[in-house]
Amino acid sequence: MIFKNTVESFAVNYAHKSIQRSLYNEFNIKILDENQKYTKTPKEGKKYMLYAHVPFCHTFCPYCSFHKYHYEQELAKHYFENLREEMRQVKAAGFDFNSLYVGGGTTLINEPELEKTLRLAKELFNIEDISAESDPNHISPESLTRFDGLIDRLSVGVQSFDDSILKKVGRYEKFGSSAEVQKRLEKAVGMIPVISLDLIFNLPNQTKEQLINDIKISKAIAPEQITLYPLMKSELTRDNIARSLGVSNVDNEREFYEIIVDEFAKGGYRQSNAWAFSNQKNADMRDEYVGSNHEYVGIGSGAFSFLEGELVINAFNLLDYGRKVKAQDSTVIAKCAFTKKERLKYIFLTELFDGSVDIAKYNKNNGANIHRDLFVELNLLKLVNAIYEENGCIKPTFFGKYICVVLMRDFYAGMDRVRALFKDDAKIKRTKNLHVMSEDTGVSYEQAVTRPKAAI
Ligand SMILES: C[S@@+](CC[C@H](N)C(=O)[O-])C[C@H]1O[C@@H](n2cnc3c(N)ncnc32)[C@H](O)[C@@H]1O
Ligand code: SF4
Repeated sequence: MIFKNTVESFAVNYAHKSIQRSLYNEFNIKILDENQKYTKTPKEGKKYMLYAHVPFCHTFCPYCSFHKYHYEQELAKHYFENLREEMRQVKAAGFDFNSLYVGGGTTLINEPELEKTLRLAKELFNIEDISAESDPNHISPESLTRFDGLIDRLSVGVQSFDDSILKKVGRYEKFGSSAEVQKRLEKAVGMIPVISLDLIFNLPNQTKEQLINDIKISKAIAPEQITLYPLMKSELTRDNIARSLGVSNVDNEREFYEIIVDEFAKGGYRQSNAWAFSNQKNADMRDEYVGSNHEYVGIGSGAFSFLEGELVINAFNLLDYGRKVKAQDSTVIAKCAFTKKERLKYIFLTELFDGSVDIAKYNKNNGANIHRDLFVELNLLKLVNAIYEENGCIKPTFFGKYICVVLMRDFYAGMDRVRALFKDDAKIKRTKNLHVMSEDTGVSYEQAVTRPKAAI
């Protein structure tokens, strides 16, 4: 047992260090200048997903690093107009999409504008399913009726059903007590084909009992899906998390993950990816847009695209973004290329996270030979009993799923480094080892980066 624990903690540490190395040392962000316009163009035969960012919230939560501004009606109205214009530009470039993910921020914060935007997406593209995110204040029956037939999957941020945690992160005042949120959720279930609850585990000082209670309440509400994110800390959120929730010198992530998997194994829900659970009739649904669509086009301020092995970054600053859209100029301000090996690892991780890597498909889609190209990685994962092969597929064991959680959480924290870079110049100077290749263009950080005025 001691041997098993030592091997497992070595493996987790190794995986963590290796993704840190990839994200921190090999992450070369190139800031584009006027002469280096990037145009998003589709490749024939490839499928893409569309991601649209809505960067507004009424108030900010301490653990959240997503790109956002304080909501103002006029500002948001102009923003949505620009978003629709960028959508038309993407259409003119030749893209088509089957699925749209609207992320935030709080995407239902301005319902008429969101509705217009979703309707336009359906008009322009062959969209079959739309996902959106909301907080518990925008899920009234009236709001959801408006989106009947438009939104297919709505994830609602709950974070916890424990009043003391909700108070600490300032959500009790904003969204109501646990009992009030539960009532609203009960009414919402059934109004949209898939309602998903988002919770966070491994919050500092969160107890086992609080976690089990969160899961029990979530299951009793009976949504189609329940997602439990491990708390992700980055340089953007670490201090705010400590101020609001305190610091804890024990890390319960692994133990809590085991509890989560056990609680869901008791019935009603099946694991649909490493951190999401779906009720039996929706068991095969996919949660993460990165998981099922390797290539995606992001529109909106601060949106990321992943195209041709490159992370492509849209202008963060709202005014800058708006100016670019109106001038029919590229909204892209920076990009970051991954090596083929990094790309193969990333795709492998997202597929393993989803539960299975089909070896033949993986090799065909990526022009790869997985056993040769990821020889070291696969053998290490097998050695620590994290993966196994069955019927031409590589699958994660329980421990493998936990490694996926760790790596995905690290990957998201890595994206925070990109956000931090564009947040303000002071942060740029403190962001160690994040190479910004502007020398070749002679563009300085200050010239190239237009600072978002509001906090991220
Ligand atoms: C972009 S947020 C939008 C949710 C919505 N605005 C709300 O507050 O309910 C999507 C989800 O990401 C998760 N999330 C945000 N920050 C996180 C963090 N630091 N660690 C883990 N999960 C996080 C939360 O569960 C959140 O509901
Ligand atoms: S969790 Fe939701 S409401 Fe809170 S800051 Fe993040 S996006 Fe906004």
